[in-house]
Amino acid sequence: MAHKIPEETLTEIRSRVSIVEVISVYVSLRQAGKNYTGLCPFHEEKTPSFSVNDERGFFHCFGCGEGGNAFTFLCRLEGISFPEAVRRLAAKAGVPLPQTPDDPQARERDRLYRLTSLAKTYFRHCLLDEQIGAAARRYLDERGIPQEVAEGFQLGYAPGGWNGLVRFLANRRAPLDKAAALGLLGERAGRNERSRPGAQQWYDKFRHRLIFPITDVTGRPVGFGGRLLPDPQRDASRERPQPKYLNSPESALYKKGSLLYGLFQAKETIRETGRVLVVEGYTDLIALVQRGFRETVAILGTALTLEQLRLLKRFSTDIYIFFDGDDAGRRAATRAFPLCVEAGLTGRGVFLPQGEDPDSFGQAQGREGLEEVLDTASPLEEFYFTQHAPPPEASAFQRAQAAKAAVAVLSPMTDTLARGALLTQVAQRFGVSEEELRRLRPNRAPQRAAPAPDPQGSRPGSPPSSAELELIQLMLVDRQVVTHVCERKLIPAFQEWGEVAADIAQAWQRADHTSIDIGAFLDRLPKRVADFISKMLSEEESEERAATQEQLMWDCIEKIQQVQHKSRRVRLQREIREAELRGDDAGVRQRLEALRALGRS
Ligand code: UTP
Ligand code: MN
Repeated sequence: MAHKIPEETLTEIRSRVSIVEVISVYVSLRQAGKNYTGLCPFHEEKTPSFSVNDERGFFHCFGCGEGGNAFTFLCRLEGISFPEAVRRLAAKAGVPLPQTPDDPQARERDRLYRLTSLAKTYFRHCLLDEQIGAAARRYLDERGIPQEVAEGFQLGYAPGGWNGLVRFLANRRAPLDKAAALGLLGERAGRNERSRPGAQQWYDKFRHRLIFPITDVTGRPVGFGGRLLPDPQRDASRERPQPKYLNSPESALYKKGSLLYGLFQAKETIRETGRVLVVEGYTDLIALVQRGFRETVAILGTALTLEQLRLLKRFSTDIYIFFDGDDAGRRAATRAFPLCVEAGLTGRGVFLPQGEDPDSFGQAQGREGLEEVLDTASPLEEFYFTQHAPPPEASAFQRAQAAKAAVAVLSPMTDTLARGALLTQVAQRFGVSEEELRRLRPNRAPQRAAPAPDPQGSRPGSPPSSAELELIQLMLVDRQVVTHVCERKLIPAFQEWGEVAADIAQAWQRADHTSIDIGAFLDRLPKRVADFISKMLSEEESEERAATQEQLMWDCIEKIQQVQHKSRRVRLQREIREAELRGDDAGVRQRLEALRALGRS
């Protein structure tokens, strides 16, 4: 990349990327007032003097004087060139870079974008055409969609014929096979394809549909949604019944789970209002926007993903999700809670009366009615707690089990005050002691960038000298420990004692009792460990010891996970460099995502 990147592109990338997110991949940051602080990755230190300002997009270390923006951070930390850092962050932010002539992949993407833009133009043109678009405009009228809203979302119309778009694209010498790969065209089946040269080989996929262009966050069309219009004017006998909505398939440009419909139009308002509303589809979004809720985005035929939530977090942390007013909707709200926690968002569930969607409800109740349901929306934890709280007749063990699961869900929270408040709720609603609950697990709010490895990995009075052996010792006596270990897929991360650990886990699986035959394992372990286990087993149980053991278990799990994460991180970093060399932007982004997820854990 020898050419210069325009300053406005750099500014755009910087404004889209959160520097805290970039740095969090490498440094555990903790919010302190307006800034975030952590241990400086550029020099050795024990107390944090590294400070990051998200709003202004820079970092500074008061210890070593290092400072800069997201680009310089990456250059410095990864030892990569400036253009390379720009490329990475541009890929992450979905900002297109001006192409060098020798960048075939970028040229290919450009060709695809040209196709989606052409298609958008065509659909728009059809909607606005006096004759061709009449039925579609009438439909908009009937649904009460104002013209400026249709304009804002660049709605279009795909006419009922089979080759309008084909001809439009062919006339402009656009590559039709690529249009097919984007899901705009289909290929005619038949044996004598050779006799159908050029355009006749293809047909329009979107027919007699109102078209919703789907754009990325920068406003470029990446796909389309099409709603079938009533009273089709086509020859019904020739066709099977068509689905109400047709959506572009996933393609090189369009990844369903990583973008949100309407975000491009909504992002300013989201920043202004400090909240975002999430609905299920095109028409619900439009219904809200036309009633003044311009801070609305839509998921399209999928459940909300972590990636989408992280995207939203760049604009706001307060998110209102509309759910169906039935059991499925409540389950969806329950599932959304851990995701929001993980993304660091405050989520609320908005429920409309059963059978209503935001469109129908908005028509009946207007803006005021919608305001009211938004005002009374419950925090997502409500749904989660309601769903997971043990019933009155639950045993103490069941309560403990449920409470532990809830605590695990809350563990990614870095807002310690909010987390504390939620723990109080868990204690009350799950009927367990708050004090014990808080002792369950050390607060995982990141405080140390890379915790100094404990040289011996052992504590006084306990012969096992590694986290693995400590954990094995616990696994032998406590089924719960095995569950935790297996849930975290930790055994493959064991460096030395994985085989024994796997066998213990298996023994527990077979056992329907509360213990396994420990003797069978003792001789596979180092003598001093075997001795220690024997001694331990002959000692008396005490509550205090149980608590220390739980603590010990978490420490061991964490240590092993750290090793595992470190090697994953190294691998991902290598793969990122390789993907970058290949120019595989999607691969880079995917791994950055994984890296970020690792950084958070
Ligand atoms: P709905 O069936 O609730 O439709 O699907 P809707 O949004 O209320 O549309 P109208 O009011 O009938 O015009 C909700 C969303 O699910 C996706 C679409 O994104 C739709 O907006 N969907 C639905 C599909 O992708 N395909 C379908 O066949 C149906
Ligand atoms: Mn509807």
